[in-house]
This record gives sequence, structure tokens and C-alpha cells, in this order.
Amino acid sequence: MKIGIIGTGNMGQALTAALSDAGHEVMLGSRDRDRATKMAGEMGAGVCGGSNEEAAQFSRLFILAVPFDACEEVLSSCGSLEGKVIIDVTNPIDPEALRLTVGPETSGGEEVAKLAPGANVVKAFNTVHAEVVENPDFGDDMPTCFYCGEDEEAKETVAELIEECGLEPIDCGPIRASRYLEAMAGLIVQLSVNMGWGVHNAFFFAER
Ligand SMILES: NC(=O)c1ccc[n+]([C@@H]2O[C@H](COP(=O)([O-])OP(=O)(O)OC[C@H]3O[C@@H](n4cnc5c(N)ncnc54)[C@H](OP(=O)(O)O)[C@@H]3O)[C@@H](O)[C@H]2O)c1
Repeated sequence: MKIGIIGTGNMGQALTAALSDAGHEVMLGSRDRDRATKMAGEMGAGVCGGSNEEAAQFSRLFILAVPFDACEEVLSSCGSLEGKVIIDVTNPIDPEALRLTVGPETSGGEEVAKLAPGANVVKAFNTVHAEVVENPDFGDDMPTCFYCGEDEEAKETVAELIEECGLEPIDCGPIRASRYLEAMAGLIVQLSVNMGWGVHNAFFFAER
């Protein structure tokens, strides 16, 4: 399928590589169209570059891989969002202060949904390091990728994309569950950055 990805940073690049390797046609979007076009040219045949608006309008589905605080500005530059599926990978966290920057009575996912009325927002990939999206190999088990959102059809599409990235999708329910997923992201950043674990680690959800 065609997929737009907004944000040319760690997550934008990792998801572009993973999804184009899985056979999707990806447009990488940037505030700087020339940068995205140049980057896309270096990433292989299935990738093209464009502005943020072009990436958002490239397809029915786009991934928002920008700092949480930039979401309002970025989404307002994307044109009509009616009917879009938006995968929100953002995390409203302040690692130095060990806190979420929104909540507890809301979450980044819910706030993104408010910024995009008429779109179906699915929170996903936010608890997985970019380095694990790039290389999900941990031996026999697949790292877990939790996701949540309101629309079942949109979530089914996102679950398929998660699996194609070599991760195990676990549905966590409505978008309100972003409150938990963003706290989990805070924990993995705490372990990685402040506790010295680095970025080659992941959550595994096990059942017996
Ligand atoms: N890194 C991870 O392992 C990881 C894992 C899970 C979730 N996340 C979340 O995913 C999001 C992106 O993370 P990242 O590590 O990819 O960040 P990053 O490397 O800093 O890249 C963010 C990108 O967002 C774009 N952007 C648009 N508006 C911006 C603004 N006002 N200020 C700065 N950048 C802006 C920039 O691309 P252009 O300049 O091309 O527009 C920038 O390269 C964050 O919300 C983060 O919490 C990150």
C-alpha cells in the first residue's frame, strides 16, 4: 500500500526503511521538502520525498513521527485529514524530569485525535526504539508493539503493518489506553537513557 511518513528523524527513517522493505510505497515528508527528497533518493526505489502536506495526502494512511510538541503545527499544515488513518508514534515525555507532559486525564494520543477530527488515530510504535524498528531480531521471540485506537478497521491495518515490521501487535483497546502506552514509553526511555541500558532492548508481552 501507499504510506506517508511525516518526520525525517530516527523514527521516520526507521519506519520508512522497514515499511519500504516490506514492499510498501513510502513518501517521507519533511518541513524541508528538499531534505526529504534527498534522503528518499538514498533510501531505495520504493521511497520518495515530499513536504509534510504531500506525505499526508499521499495515501489514506500516514505516520506522525515528530516531537509531540510539534504535532499541532505539523497537522495544521497537512491539509484535510478527513477519513485518514494516522499512526501516532509520538511521546509527550520529559525524560529529565521523569514525567509525562500531558495527562493524567488525557494523553498525547487523545490530544492528537482532537487535533485531527474526522481522522482515525491509532497510537502505535511509541514503545519501540527506532533501532528495534530497524532491526527487530531478538532470536525466537518478536518484540511487542502495543497499539490502541477507536476504529477497528484502522487498527487491523496498523496491526498488519506492525507484523510486517517483525513486531508482535497487541491491541490495547481505545485511544484512551495511550495514557498507559505513553507511560511505558517513559519507562523504556528512563531505562535506556538514564539507567544506561541503551537502545537495543524491547518489551515482550508473554502469556502462559
Ligand atoms: N527515537 C525513538 O526511538 C522513538 C521511539 C518511539 C517513539 N518515538 C517518538 O517519535 C517521535 C519522533 O522521534 P524521533 O526520535 O524520530 O525524533 P527526531 O529524530 O528528533 O526527529 C523528529 C523529526 O520531526 C520533524 N519535525 C517536525 N516539526 C518539528 C519541530 N517543530 N521540531 C523538531 N522536529 C520537527 C523533523 O523532521 P523535518 O525537519 O524533516 O521536518 C525531525 O527530524 C517523538 O515524538 C518520539 O517521542 C521515538
